[in-house]
Amino acid sequence: MTESTSISAATGSSVTTLPRIIQGGMGVAVSDWRLANAVSRTGELGIVSGTGIDTVLVRRLQDGDEGGHSRRALAAYPNQQRAQATLDKYFLPGGRQGKPYKRVPLPSLSRHQETWELSIMGAFVEVWLAREGHSNPVGINLLTKLQLFNLPSLYGAVLAGAGTVIMGAGIPREIPGALDAFSAGKPGSFRLDVKGDPQGETPVVTLDPADYGLGGIEVPRPSFYPIITSHVLANVLLKKASGSIQGFVIEGPTAGGHNAPPRGQVTYDDLGQPIYGERDICDLSEMRKLSVPFWLAGGQASPESLRAALAEGAAGIQVGTLFAFCHESGFRADFRQRVQVQAQQERLSVFTDPLASPTGFPFKVVQLPDTLSNPAVYAERQRVCDIGYLREAHWDNSGKVGWRCASEPVDQYLTKGGKPEDTVGRKCLCNALMSDAGLAQIQKNGDVEKPLLTSGDGIYALSDWKVGYTAADVIAYLRGDAPPA
Ligand SMILES: Cc1cc2nc3c(=O)[nH]c(=O)nc-3n(C[C@H](O)[C@H](O)[C@H](O)COP(=O)(O)O)c2cc1C
Repeated sequence: MTESTSISAATGSSVTTLPRIIQGGMGVAVSDWRLANAVSRTGELGIVSGTGIDTVLVRRLQDGDEGGHSRRALAAYPNQQRAQATLDKYFLPGGRQGKPYKRVPLPSLSRHQETWELSIMGAFVEVWLAREGHSNPVGINLLTKLQLFNLPSLYGAVLAGAGTVIMGAGIPREIPGALDAFSAGKPGSFRLDVKGDPQGETPVVTLDPADYGLGGIEVPRPSFYPIITSHVLANVLLKKASGSIQGFVIEGPTAGGHNAPPRGQVTYDDLGQPIYGERDICDLSEMRKLSVPFWLAGGQASPESLRAALAEGAAGIQVGTLFAFCHESGFRADFRQRVQVQAQQERLSVFTDPLASPTGFPFKVVQLPDTLSNPAVYAERQRVCDIGYLREAHWDNSGKVGWRCASEPVDQYLTKGGKPEDTVGRKCLCNALMSDAGLAQIQKNGDVEKPLLTSGDGIYALSDWKVGYTAADVIAYLRGDAPPA
């Protein structure tokens, strides 16, 4: 371990030293195992993204698993028979030869065994590889809104020894209890959030490790850090969560990826971006009263910001954008390079799009002509929902739980009770973010899914950095040990 803050937190019976720098979880596969491994080796906290990790695993296997990394991790999976079954089904030694990827089946409440097993394996592989070759902690990031995928990804991560779980995009009230259960090798559950007028009992989703031939394995319980924007939610979670919480990440509206919407009546600037104000700034004096460690995220990527955060009583900072464009990031290398060159030429802009994400949350979009940020490219895409992570649960006419996404084909969305106005401007983030990571699907009509890059407002600072800078360069800079590389 290198120098780290002297702040300590009691987590159960053990006392751990906290990192001053958390490398933010960035999906899909932007903060992949390579990036998290590189960061954790420095003694700060590397975080893998668990979002879409089932599809990421099977697509890597279908692309021939260059370097044998996924297969090496699968060789450590506790159920070797099932790991082999996955290899038999998805691994293609010579790659796909220009064919479309075989898809992971779309799960539902009653049918999800295969998908969940792939999510368990995907998260296991990602965390295992991020931990390989050093003994420092590694964490995983998940989006609370991906209700049907979170339990298996959490379980796979816990099984592989993740030290920290970080979750935003919703209120992860029942996750701490699920972590307690999983670390004891027991079934973990949470109550599904279903849209529309309740038409029966709210269903409970449960994952029992024994159903996957993994019963009774006891592993340490990771720390849990919800991502919040206000101290009010921190308070609610500390009082009402189903288990213990070890820290909070406080994320402001300049951060990359999804942003929480502004509080109260939303107003927009001339470009159509939501306007944030004083009410959206977290009250740190209230946070300090909670006596729980917290990290500041969103536009914090400088040694001055780290010092200021520590002076405000934070344990440190969480940084995304600067890591997203470094050498080890999972963004396709040509995208990374192009963004950086454009930043240097001052030809880059980031738009906080209130419509792009089917979740309805604002989503930051890098404006690049050959991506879905270009209205002409967006208009050309034929809508299809074949990955389905961002589908929301809703009560259908027969009193059952159905699944719909505002970015799916409009007629299908409307037959599921969705409103036409909710489909306007919505983009298929599932397919686009796979494309960002070099895992683009070839659809039935022959179209290759187009990318859509996200980044924080701090992307302009990339102009100070040379193409090919590394995660270790970022850490050295943030610690105040070196200028931008
Ligand atoms: C490319 C990219 C993808 C991101 N994806 C996620 C995500 O999947 N889940 C999440 O909680 N945060 C996500 N974030 C937010 C980061 O984890 C981090 O909190 C944020 O980037 C910090 O602000 P900064 O970008 O100004 O450094 C993403 C950020 C970027 C730049």
